[in-house]
Amino acid sequence: MFAAQVIKAGLALVLSFGAVEGLALPQATQPLNLTQLAALLQATIQTVIESVPANTPNITFTGQYQIPQHDHQPLLRAQGITLKRTNFLYGPPIAGGPAFPTGVIGIEKLANDLGAFGIDITPQFQGALIDDTVAAAQYQQYDNLMTLDDYVKLYTNNWVHVLPHGPDPGVLTNYTDDLFFSMERLSNSPYAVKRLRPHYDTLSFNIDDKIAKKIAGKSLNQLFAEGRLFYADYRDQAALPKSAQYGAACDGYFYIDRHSGDFLPLAIRTNVGSNLIYTRLDTANDWLLAKIMLNVNDFWFSQWNHLAQTHEVVQIAYMAAIRTLSEAHPVMAMLNRLMHEVFAIQPVAEAILFQPGATVDQLFPFTGQSAQDYTTKRYKTGGAGAVESQYFKSELRARGLIDSPYGPALKHFPFYEDASIIHDAAEKALRAFVESYYSSDSAVAHDQEIQAWAKEAQGPAAVIDFPSISCIDDLVGILTHMAHLVSTSHHTSNTNELLDVSSALPFSPPALSQAPPTSKNIANVADYLPKLDKVLAQFTLAAVFARSAIAGTEKTLLHMFDDADMLSRMNSKTAKAAATFQSEMQAFSEEVRGRQFGADGLSQGMPFIWRALDPNVVPYYIAT
Ligand SMILES: *[C@@H]1O[C@H](CO)[C@@H](O)[C@H](O)[C@H]1NC(C)=O
Ligand SMILES: *[C@@H]1O[C@H](CO)[C@@H](O)[C@H](O)[C@H]1NC(C)=O
Ligand SMILES: *[C@@H]1O[C@H](CO)[C@@H](O)[C@H](O)[C@H]1NC(C)=O
Ligand SMILES: [Fe+2]
Repeated sequence: MFAAQVIKAGLALVLSFGAVEGLALPQATQPLNLTQLAALLQATIQTVIESVPANTPNITFTGQYQIPQHDHQPLLRAQGITLKRTNFLYGPPIAGGPAFPTGVIGIEKLANDLGAFGIDITPQFQGALIDDTVAAAQYQQYDNLMTLDDYVKLYTNNWVHVLPHGPDPGVLTNYTDDLFFSMERLSNSPYAVKRLRPHYDTLSFNIDDKIAKKIAGKSLNQLFAEGRLFYADYRDQAALPKSAQYGAACDGYFYIDRHSGDFLPLAIRTNVGSNLIYTRLDTANDWLLAKIMLNVNDFWFSQWNHLAQTHEVVQIAYMAAIRTLSEAHPVMAMLNRLMHEVFAIQPVAEAILFQPGATVDQLFPFTGQSAQDYTTKRYKTGGAGAVESQYFKSELRARGLIDSPYGPALKHFPFYEDASIIHDAAEKALRAFVESYYSSDSAVAHDQEIQAWAKEAQGPAAVIDFPSISCIDDLVGILTHMAHLVSTSHHTSNTNELLDVSSALPFSPPALSQAPPTSKNIANVADYLPKLDKVLAQFTLAAVFARSAIAGTEKTLLHMFDDADMLSRMNSKTAKAAATFQSEMQAFSEEVRGRQFGADGLSQGMPFIWRALDPNVVPYYIAT
């Protein structure tokens, strides 16, 4: 009775495109268990694949890639682009966000991506099915989840397929440590927190001087004036339509300690009910629940933000490229490699997440429809949809997390430390690739296809903040960013992270099982956590988004550029750069795998060992 049958998915996905009108995908209206969920996804994939018309033009290119200036068959090239422009079209969004592919080539690409997605997800489903059954059968082991320790027992001898190495070391033992909570803002969920700029920003709430001084040795205003104060704001969740679960709409302050230099939590406000403000001077139970309540809001933010910030951005930028670059263009070939499976996720999100009664309604504090609307809002007006201003380092700089003109630097910033290594190595490889084809900046400026891509992106595709591409640096910049979004950025927020740490229990539930307390001194934090049926459904959903079976295969980030067919039709400089990238990633993988707790019980300044970006574990592509 505890199995994941509580998962209910619904699907009303209607595509209309070119010659084939009104493709109606399978619809589920009854609650689904995992077997049924797999069947629904399979049917979705099958329906799209079968709907690809037999006479879809074949745009596969088999020759040596070259930029248009060097192509001796410009007419053929132009015809190929026209064929794509006629048959790969901007259709209505699916599951919100920007335009979604339509036209017969659009449907074929979607079918290919869904087919590849189906292959990837099959071992996850198989593993989850076994793991779920075992976990449900072990229910006596959890003693009805009456205490926090009972939640820890959920992991004993469980989830061996979908979480083969267990959650990140420290997750089950050190979660009450304040540093665990604060450092999550700088590792597995790095997109919410920002440094408050002295004299420029404003403080959203106040803390009594005595309390602040007792915790941080300084008043709130002193911390603010010294550039030591940070803020995470989830107040916009207060107005969202509620599901049957609960959540607050927290905002919270963090600070850099004047003695230790540690990045620590200062205070959390709920913004619902009695609008309580918590600090570590409250009881241990109250303070722990406050941190859990902020985590609930942060999980909502980070999941829907990632959909907007990674999936939806690369989706539309790639669509503009498909409509303007010849398949003979080396940049098209590179994008075709990096954008593997990009189009699969929106129909999957529609099918299993957003429909009324589907997984968001079942597991999160707010409805599935509101998750989709929140995502679209983040995409369109929330900043997540922007391209150039969201470049890795610019975006961190804008939030005062690196190169800050105010206050001390962060002593540890694990996301930046790890993502930089991958980002910089990818940038180096992509620079070698671009420089191997363009002898000068002006060669880029005179590549009419590249210019058409930028114009298309800024025009009909309506990509937000897409850069002009007038020199080698510009082209390297946009390619590096797209590679970053589908790999480092995505897998920090999603993929294996959900099980590893971001929704690990008891500290990071997707929702509360009852309303936030209206007064302090609660007796038992576990009373507020999800019950077993929800817990098992949560594991199932996270397992579907994990890609544990990819570890060690040629689908990992290590192999990002390692496509023998593609490289054989490029040039030796690109092949050499791809090999260098691979050996650098191999070395980094060994470093990540070798991480241990130091004598202080910390790793990268955190009481847990973060391995999200091991290049030999995560996919090179966006995957889920
Ligand atoms: C899940 O659904 C399938 C198909 O309807 C059914 O055969 C199976 O018994 C169900 N499993 C559970 C655990 O309810
Ligand atoms: C498209 O053309 C390529 C190269 O000629 C070929 O390998 C491939 O099988 C073709 N695809 C289809 C669907 O016919
Ligand atoms: C975190 O947990 C590990 C064991 O899981 C322990 O060795 C380490 O000392 C803990 N760190 C802190 C700061 O408590
Ligand atoms: Fe994702």
